[in-house]
Amino acid sequence: MDKILINGGKPLAGEVHISGAKNAAVAIIPAALLVEDRCVIENVPDISDVDSILQMIVSLGAEVEKPDCNTVVVDATNLSVNVVDPELASKMRASYYLMGALIGRFTKAKVPHPGGCNFGVRPIDQHLKSFRCLGCEVVADDIFVDIDASGLQGGNVYFDVVSVGATINAILAATLAPGKTVLENCAKEPHVVDLANFLNSMGANIRGAGTDVIKIIGVGSLRGGTYTIIPDQIEAGTYMAAAAATRGDVVINNIIPKHMEAISAKFEEMGVTIEEYDEAIRVKANDRPLKNIKVKTLPYPGFPTDLQPPMIVLLSTVEGTSVVTEGVWESRFQYVAELEKMGIKIDINGTVATIEGGAPLKPAELCATDLRAGASMIVAALACNGVSEITQLRYIDRGYEHIVDKLRAIGADVKRVDD
Ligand code: UD1
Repeated sequence: MDKILINGGKPLAGEVHISGAKNAAVAIIPAALLVEDRCVIENVPDISDVDSILQMIVSLGAEVEKPDCNTVVVDATNLSVNVVDPELASKMRASYYLMGALIGRFTKAKVPHPGGCNFGVRPIDQHLKSFRCLGCEVVADDIFVDIDASGLQGGNVYFDVVSVGATINAILAATLAPGKTVLENCAKEPHVVDLANFLNSMGANIRGAGTDVIKIIGVGSLRGGTYTIIPDQIEAGTYMAAAAATRGDVVINNIIPKHMEAISAKFEEMGVTIEEYDEAIRVKANDRPLKNIKVKTLPYPGFPTDLQPPMIVLLSTVEGTSVVTEGVWESRFQYVAELEKMGIKIDINGTVATIEGGAPLKPAELCATDLRAGASMIVAALACNGVSEITQLRYIDRGYEHIVDKLRAIGADVKRVDD
């Protein structure tokens, strides 16, 4: 079993390069199934979630090449299978994007319920509602969602909750559906916009992505092309947290500062100096003491829920009481029990975490419990004097490209060993 050993307590310094966005890649790769031609997708992160989604589209008959570790070529001209293997689908949440993509190509599709991190109940009712609003018949049992898309056509969808996945799935389903689709109360995350930009560059007619209302005119077909995925907002935010938690000074390159605004604002409120450049952010936390703050996670443009775990670790290094309210998921604090092994003092009451910060962290053996929780344990180990170890790296490998090399390049004493 692989583990990461971190001899922490050293301020991080230097420059780190951010990879392409995981959550955009795992939506855009299924979207390429709508194109009966070659799509060259660049800036794809080299992570296991990408490998999993590629494995799934290959099992459906798509041809995939990887000319280098960050470029994927998908040719779905000969897509021939409309049923997704439950074992493959259980590896990740984003397997649900194969529903929207397959009903654009076939009159029937059978896709299993998705896997992914456990944050309590993760319903997909809004995805299924959108397919029904677009003329599909949908029957879900314990394993599969069975969709008859022979009546697929444009329609109106009002989402009862703001959902990234449901917004993207509805865009996928509507892209080739005859007529006009109007989606209301949409998610506005950067990867929703990236997906729409990808599809538009292949010939789709999608307007309004990044706002509450998205309008789609169905087109007869899409053409191939080349597209570059946006940088990963969450990976960038994780390195920002690591820089600040170690009281370091790190330049985070290849980012879109606009996507980082909610995060930068909270760091500045804590007293971290943030310098913004065209495609970089400098995070400097070594010139004054940091302050305790309150944070609430919200859909974009709010503070992202996926940065809640690293933010809690950062706040545990700051003197005083901080409060973090989880506004997206009903149960996203299970990992806190692991952090308590390091002496971090956190009281959880429903969706509110109260952190008594400032006590020195103790090195510990930590087990990553999900992707972002695993990242938060790395941040905690970097901030803690002494050697900590982190196991269950398969979670971290799902979403962080070359994390050990990137941390080493900014001065971390970290290694990955096979136990
Ligand atoms: C995506 C991200 C995940 C992130 C989340 C919120 C991917 C692959 N994953 O997950 O990392 O934490 O956005 O930013 O992009 N909901 C319903 N019914 C539905 C769908 C969602 O009630 O049909 C609720 C959920 O329970 C949750 C909220 O809506 O409370 C947001 O979920 P959603 O935006 O759909 O998250 P995902 O797309 O699954």
